[in-house]
Amino acid sequence: MGETNSGSPEAMGDWVRTGGSGELRPADAGRDVTLMGWVARRREHGGVTFVDLRDRSGVVQVVLAGELSGRAGDLRVESVVAVRGTVGLRPEGLSNPALPTGEVEVRALDFRVLNPARTPPIYTDDAPGRVPVSEAGRTVDGAEPGETGEVLRLRYRYLDLRRPRMQRNLALRHRMVKAVRDYLDELGFLEIETPNLTRSTPEGARDYLVPARNAPGRFYALPQSPQLFKQLLMVAGFERYFQIARCFRDEDLRADRQPEFTQIDVEMSFVTPADVLQLTEGLMVRVWREAAGVEIKAPFPRMDYDEAVLRYGTDKPDLRFGLEISDVTELVGGSEFRVFGEAAARGEVVRGLAVPGGAGLLSRKDLDGLTEQVKAMGAPGLVWMAFEAAGVRSPVAKHLSSDVAETLRRALGAQEGAMALFVAGPSDAAAAALGHLRLEMAGKLGLTRPGDLRFLWVVNYPLFEAGDTPERLAAKHHPFTAPVASDLPLLETQPARVRARAYDLVLNGTELGGGSIRNHVRDVQERVFRAMGVPEEEVRAKFGFLLDALEYGAPPHGGIALGVDRIAAMLAGEDSIREVIAFPKTASAACPMTQAPAPVDPGQLEELGVRVDAGPERVG
Ligand code: AMO
Repeated sequence: MGETNSGSPEAMGDWVRTGGSGELRPADAGRDVTLMGWVARRREHGGVTFVDLRDRSGVVQVVLAGELSGRAGDLRVESVVAVRGTVGLRPEGLSNPALPTGEVEVRALDFRVLNPARTPPIYTDDAPGRVPVSEAGRTVDGAEPGETGEVLRLRYRYLDLRRPRMQRNLALRHRMVKAVRDYLDELGFLEIETPNLTRSTPEGARDYLVPARNAPGRFYALPQSPQLFKQLLMVAGFERYFQIARCFRDEDLRADRQPEFTQIDVEMSFVTPADVLQLTEGLMVRVWREAAGVEIKAPFPRMDYDEAVLRYGTDKPDLRFGLEISDVTELVGGSEFRVFGEAAARGEVVRGLAVPGGAGLLSRKDLDGLTEQVKAMGAPGLVWMAFEAAGVRSPVAKHLSSDVAETLRRALGAQEGAMALFVAGPSDAAAAALGHLRLEMAGKLGLTRPGDLRFLWVVNYPLFEAGDTPERLAAKHHPFTAPVASDLPLLETQPARVRARAYDLVLNGTELGGGSIRNHVRDVQERVFRAMGVPEEEVRAKFGFLLDALEYGAPPHGGIALGVDRIAAMLAGEDSIREVIAFPKTASAACPMTQAPAPVDPGQLEELGVRVDAGPERVG
């Protein structure tokens, strides 16, 4: 007793940990315990030292008196320590109802510092009122100039992950993935791994490439998804496959996008879309029940893609609020108000939405800001009309007869005090602009309630969308998606009108997953590539193996992939998937901790037969 034994490799000595700090309860009073963990907080009070000792199970208060208090200077915050002591009830009136261990304390008999810690550069707690580091954007000791809170958090991620919130999030993610595995296992699915060193799978993003040492000038692509392999597993007769699959996509990053992310990837043979939807609904029910203790209702409503884009301006509508978009093109055709009349005459659309109470809420400056936003999205502009008791207030009021204004008011269902926002232009641009305005307004009006979960299936997608060049069409999902059978003849005549046997799962405006029934007949798959304008040689070179496989008894099949990170973020109530990923990348796809991406040895490059144009930059 008495020696500090600070930080030696043998620091634990013969001490044996007897349990977790966070598990102690009044029933443990009188027990002798040996706890090991981190110093979360230390304070002195009248010659006695109080230490909050933290480990994965939680925190307990440790009391050091007399000689031990004298040595407590060694117990610096975030140091790893071992404490031997006796559990006791806290004195009357001194319990802490905010802590599960708040009625007890551990009266130390001895302690050892297993490894002292330097002062942490970021907070490791979620104390109430603490501004999250990411928002505070503060600079602290150890930070490079210009490093923001977010970058600092990722640079010291091992400290950031000590925060209870992050510990909770990763535990929740674990429970969620376990619920997925249990559910699919019970239904006879086999978890099968597929390669990460492979050929490009087209999912619409750029590939991450890996140079092949044994074949200079050749590259593997990291999979954007296991799409082709899971289809080949159906050809191989596995019938029900799933994988918690890591996917890699080099695309612009956002709160819900990371360069590497995880999918619950599912494929089934002999199924219709209804089977996949039902399986997925059961999976969501199970996940919300087991990971969050929340009962959600299935089946989920379904909406056609066209309707979603028309009424909500997006194929991932947030149904937690109304603010629906109305198409008024027919009402303003031939209108004396030129902006609307001419758009209608050009075959474009005029659409709008009414913001209840918006007339008093949106300032001129707000409206100018919104106008800039929709212009940046490619819409020609924004027309606003405030419906007030005194009449219509609008920059275009003098061009509008009271009849037209009244017709528009009624079409939008605008009450007195509402602000109507209109966009005239090509239908895609108008939809996107109004979809954006709808979300902005919902945010401004505070229309979402925590805990409100609006699942939605979006179905009947078009098979194609415009490609990079006029000769090419792009697949709306991916090119392996099957057309609706009755639309097959349109593949050669009006490909833009062909509908896909595809479905997306949306929750509160976020796309959680997407999938489709696939082409299992070679001829149909070839016709799809032809309709897209992909040259035959390219098809043969890139997808010959798939086309061949389709000729050896490929069963009808289909499936879905769901974003693990997005589902976990929803379950945790986090806005960004970075909060549910242990080691995510920054918005520029960098890892501030490992400094990846990093230069490599010239010798490695030589071996790979790769020459770098700009010359590898030094990372300091
Ligand atoms: P899709 O490309 O729609 O489909 O992807 C499925 C789901 O994966 C998630 N996701 C992402 N999550 C985080 N960061 C990203 N960069 C990212 N990209 C996608 C989303 C998305 O809904 N092979 C098809 C599925 C199929 O047809 O079965 C596919 O990958 O939650």
